Amino acid sequence: MAILDSGSAGCLSGTIRVPGDKSISHRALIVSALAVGESRIDGLLEGEDVLATAAALRALGASVERTGRGEWSVHGTGIGGLAEPDTVLDLGNSGTAARLLLGVLGTHPLTATMTGDASLRTRPMGRVAEPLRAMGAVVSAREGDLLPLTVTGARDPVPIEYALPVASAQVKSAILLAALNTPGETTVIEPRRTRDHSELMLRRFGVDISVADKGGGRAITLRGQPEISGRPVSVPGDPSSAAFPGVAALLVPGSRVHIPGVGLNPTRTGLFDCLAEMGAAVAVESAETAEAEPAGDLTVSHPGKAGLRAIDVPADRAPRMIDEYPILAVAAAFAHGTTRMHGLGELRVKESDRLAAIADGLRAAGVGAAVEGDTLIVEGSERRPAGGGTIEAAHDHRIAMAFLVLGLACERPIRVVGTETIGTSFPGFAEAMNGLGAAIAPVEDADA
Ligand code: S3P
Repeated sequence: MAILDSGSAGCLSGTIRVPGDKSISHRALIVSALAVGESRIDGLLEGEDVLATAAALRALGASVERTGRGEWSVHGTGIGGLAEPDTVLDLGNSGTAARLLLGVLGTHPLTATMTGDASLRTRPMGRVAEPLRAMGAVVSAREGDLLPLTVTGARDPVPIEYALPVASAQVKSAILLAALNTPGETTVIEPRRTRDHSELMLRRFGVDISVADKGGGRAITLRGQPEISGRPVSVPGDPSSAAFPGVAALLVPGSRVHIPGVGLNPTRTGLFDCLAEMGAAVAVESAETAEAEPAGDLTVSHPGKAGLRAIDVPADRAPRMIDEYPILAVAAAFAHGTTRMHGLGELRVKESDRLAAIADGLRAAGVGAAVEGDTLIVEGSERRPAGGGTIEAAHDHRIAMAFLVLGLACERPIRVVGTETIGTSFPGFAEAMNGLGAAIAPVEDADA
């Protein structure tokens, strides 16, 4: 198991490029694999999660080739044209890969078995299996609809109108991908707006999708069985990855960090709203792109003597920053006052029980933290936290990176065990952070 120690750093300065957006990378590969002809993708995240999607699509008959750094060429099979795999699809740690591919397979007349690592095998798949069953798929899974599972896709899929019980972009996307090979119109109603990368990607490939506001959320309608052909796709940097060096610059005095080419889709920028409310100095320069996905350059500077202030984060912001709570909680430890983050029930079913992992990890580093119902409470202080302590990453890349950032600004170093999980979304994280002046160092594993 890989172990990293993160210790007090001098100021962080310079430019850091973050890898391609994980969510958009999965979608770029999957939609390209369903298009006829070639799609060329650049900026693709070459992390383990996305590589698991690439391998699964190959096993399903698409041609998926790496042509250069972040550059990939996909020759798709056409909608409904994937072939039955002769091997189990292993999606590793990736909930997005598992749920989106389950959606695709739900309306292909073939049988496939999916599994994943110890973390993925505990994550709920019923939220996708249930609407797929309504469309005609047969999904048999372990007790509680857990992986491994076997799906036999519907031969004659029926369109549905489905109101999501949870605000989940993965579930929405799974249904939209299933709807691609379903005749007629399928509608997904989301209670709150979640990331809309699938809608943008599908529309870019020429799929007829309409979106209407509905209460606080939206109704998304897709007309099935179009013919789509290959397109070029550029993937912007991942704002969820940019969050780590960005917050690090806010915590280490004297820092100023530039992060170019970051995706700025408004369904992903909740963290920046929080940081602005906390008094952080984050400059955003939007860039014109030919893509549907907005992007821009970020410059983050330490706030100086004024410091950060505690905030109350409303529950309805959660879908716009669901992956950023670990790093926001770390920032809150340095803010004057008590920060409360509401409506975080979904964090219990991420790569780990993130709600517990954040509170336990903060306490191990000497920061006051508690969970009350679905609310996370962090006691900020003007004094820097004591640090020390060991954090088990427990197959959770974002827990690993958040606590490595915390270590940079504590009195004593923080040790994170199981840091190999960072390779799922941010390969080369420690080296890139050290390039800015961080002190993140590998430790020999005495048990190895
Ligand atoms: C994702 C959606 C979110 C997020 C995950 C990626 C996606 O999950 O946490 O990292 O790419 O659609 P949920 O849809 O389960 O909230």
